[in-house]
Amino acid sequence: MNQVLEQTFTGKVALVTGGGTGIGKGIVKELAARGAHVIIASRSLENLAPTVAEVSAEGGSIEAHILDVRNTDQIEALLKTIKQTRHGVDFLINNAAGNFLVPTRKLSYNGWKTVVDIVLNGTFYCTKVFGEDMIERGEGGKIINIVATYAWHGSPGVVHSAAAKAGVVALTRSLAVEWAPYHLQINAIAPGPIEGTGGQERLFPSEVVEAVRQSIPAKRLGQTREIGLAAAFLLSPDASFITGEVLTVDGGAWLGKGMLEKFADVPTFRGGAPTA
Ligand code: COA
Ligand code: NAP
Repeated sequence: MNQVLEQTFTGKVALVTGGGTGIGKGIVKELAARGAHVIIASRSLENLAPTVAEVSAEGGSIEAHILDVRNTDQIEALLKTIKQTRHGVDFLINNAAGNFLVPTRKLSYNGWKTVVDIVLNGTFYCTKVFGEDMIERGEGGKIINIVATYAWHGSPGVVHSAAAKAGVVALTRSLAVEWAPYHLQINAIAPGPIEGTGGQERLFPSEVVEAVRQSIPAKRLGQTREIGLAAAFLLSPDASFITGEVLTVDGGAWLGKGMLEKFADVPTFRGGAPTA
């Protein structure tokens, strides 16, 4: 942990769903390094325990709870448990997700339902339970939803996730307006392909990683820390007037899909004006 960091989040409590692995863990480390007490929650202790040990060893304040974001009873129980020792949750990061690459003709009804339940319904359930408590406490709060750029450009092979993430973007923008009078800020982060994560392994297996890297204008995959830094900014006082925004952190990946991009080496695109 970087000890010279300003302790911007001292006294704040942050809940990161799916915070034991991948991007969630990257966010957890940045928030803990800035003094937040971080609560991580997901289905498997095997994913949670190593992150608790790592962050604790670095001097961070962290606890873990078993939670399936599809289960509203569990979410409500988690809020009650947290309130036994803390004032509540100041920052909610809806990061948990389920995804798998599948041609839509092979996607079963239950496969569709499972991903939509985790990504869209799980985000809504956590937002409703923890957001309403933020409103009742009257001290404001900040929510970040982790989405993906295919929420707006779509993608074959992940129709369930793309549709669910599009729903999360709509949820983000709707509640940003509805809950602004209660001093809640609700934003989203859309990461590009991030190295060493479950999402990268599932969507970009090793045989295609190099092609993915070359397709990104920045010519590299992102790091989990880069998503953590974006989250730390959105949760900080520096972002106090930003709400309903989707911050894309992808090295130019989705913009680079423009139809003219592939012609960027053609001389007229390198500064030579077309002759009349
Ligand atoms: N291809 C096609 N269908 C699949 C699939 C795959 N790779 N993986 C799961 N499914 C289907 C199952 O067949 C089942 O449908 P069925 O009952 O019609 O057969 C349905 O999805 C639910 O699967 P199940 O394994 O029971 O769900 P679960 O709740 O135990 O796990 C998943 C949820 C499927 C999303 C699982 O992959 C998971 O736990 N993922 C978490 C990590 C992750 O996805 N990280 C990436 C985030 S971007
Ligand atoms: P990951 O490491 O597989 O993380 C997913 C996390 O979600 C795991 O910790 C998992 O823990 C948890 N989870 C899954 N189902 C859950 C449930 N029902 N209830 C509670 N927790 C659950 O994947 P990742 O790549 O870091 O993804 C994190 C987020 O970034 C996701 O929202 C994903 O869509 C988004 N994203 C990732 C990329 C990328 O390149 N990696 C790109 C764009 C967007 P348990 O198994 O213990 O429950």
